[in-house]
Amino acid sequence: IKKIGILTSGGDAPGMNAAIRAATRSAIAAGREAVGILRGYQGMIDGDFIPLQSTDVSGILQLGGTMLKTARCKEFRTPEGRRRAKEQLTAAAIDAVIVIGGDGSFTGAWVMSQECDIPFVGIPATIDNDMYGTDYTIGYETALNSVVCAVDKIKDTARSHGRIFFIEVMGHEAGLLALNSGIACGAEVILIPESKAQHDELQKFLEKGYRDKESSGIVMVAEGDEAGGALHIAEQIRRDHPDLDVRISILGHIQRGGSPVARDRINATRMGIAAVDALLNDQKSIMIGLDNNRIVHVTFNKAVKMNHSIDTGLLEVHNLLNGM
Ligand code: F6P
Repeated sequence: IKKIGILTSGGDAPGMNAAIRAATRSAIAAGREAVGILRGYQGMIDGDFIPLQSTDVSGILQLGGTMLKTARCKEFRTPEGRRRAKEQLTAAAIDAVIVIGGDGSFTGAWVMSQECDIPFVGIPATIDNDMYGTDYTIGYETALNSVVCAVDKIKDTARSHGRIFFIEVMGHEAGLLALNSGIACGAEVILIPESKAQHDELQKFLEKGYRDKESSGIVMVAEGDEAGGALHIAEQIRRDHPDLDVRISILGHIQRGGSPVARDRINATRMGIAAVDALLNDQKSIMIGLDNNRIVHVTFNKAVKMNHSIDTGLLEVHNLLNGM
C-alpha cells in the first residue's frame, strides 16, 4: 500500500477531524501518501481528491465538523456509482481507503470491497453510538455533553414556570444518547425505542409523580421512539391532560456541532492510528472498535449486520432514582 485515501461520510460527528489528522500523520510517518476524498462517497465518484501533508491537518484537532466535508450519497448505492468510484481511485493510484462514519458508510464500504480488490478499513464516528462491536463511536461523548448543557438550561425555565418539557434528542433508531443524557440531567422520564415499558413510566409520572411531588418535569424522548417523537407524544399528552403546562424542545443539529471533548479527541486519535496500522498489516473490511478501552477489529459483516444493544441496567438506575 502506497497511497491511502481518507473520507468522512454520513452525519458529521465532533472528533472526525482528530481522526483525519491521526490517520494522515501516521500514514506519512509510515512512508505512505495520504489523500483526502472530499464529500464522502460523492467525492470518490467525482474524483474529488486532495493530497494531505502533515501541515494540512494542523489546527483541526479542536474543530467540530469535518474538514473533508461529508455527504449521504445515493449514487454510491448503485453498482454504476461504485464502478465510477473504483475508476477514480484507480486513476489516482489510491490503493486503500479509510472510511470515517457510521453503519450506512460501512455498508457502502463492505459492498464495494466485495466488488473490487481495494482494502477498506472503517473508523466508527456517529453521535448515535449505535454500532455493534464497539463501546464507543467518535462524537458521542461531545454530543452527550451538548445535550446535558442544553437540558440544564431548559430545566431552569421549566422549574420557574412549573412546566413539563418534552425534549427530543437525536440518535436515529438508538436511545443511548437520550438514556445517558436523561440520567445525567436527572430527567423524570426517558422514552427510548429499546424499551416500550417506559411509556407506562410516563403515565405514572403524569398521574401521580407530577402532582404529588414535582412542580416541573423533563421527559427525554429519543427521536427513534416508536410513539413518534416529542411533538407527537406531547400533543397526545396535551389532549389527555389539558390542565398540564406542556412545552416541547427539539434539540436538533446543535447536538452534532461544537468542539470535540477530550475523550473524543483522544479516541479518534487512537482509532486513526489503528486504522493505518491495520491496513499496513494487510487487514481489510474491518471496523476499528474499542472494547473496554482496548482497540479491537470487528468485521464489516458483523458491524453492519448485528444490532447494537443498550445496557438495561441504566434504565433500572433511572427508574429507581425516579421512584417508579
Ligand atoms: O446519525 C447521526 C444523526 O444525527 C442521527 O442522530 C439523526 O437521525 C440523523 O443523523 C440526522 O441526519 P441529517 O442531518 O442528515 O438529517
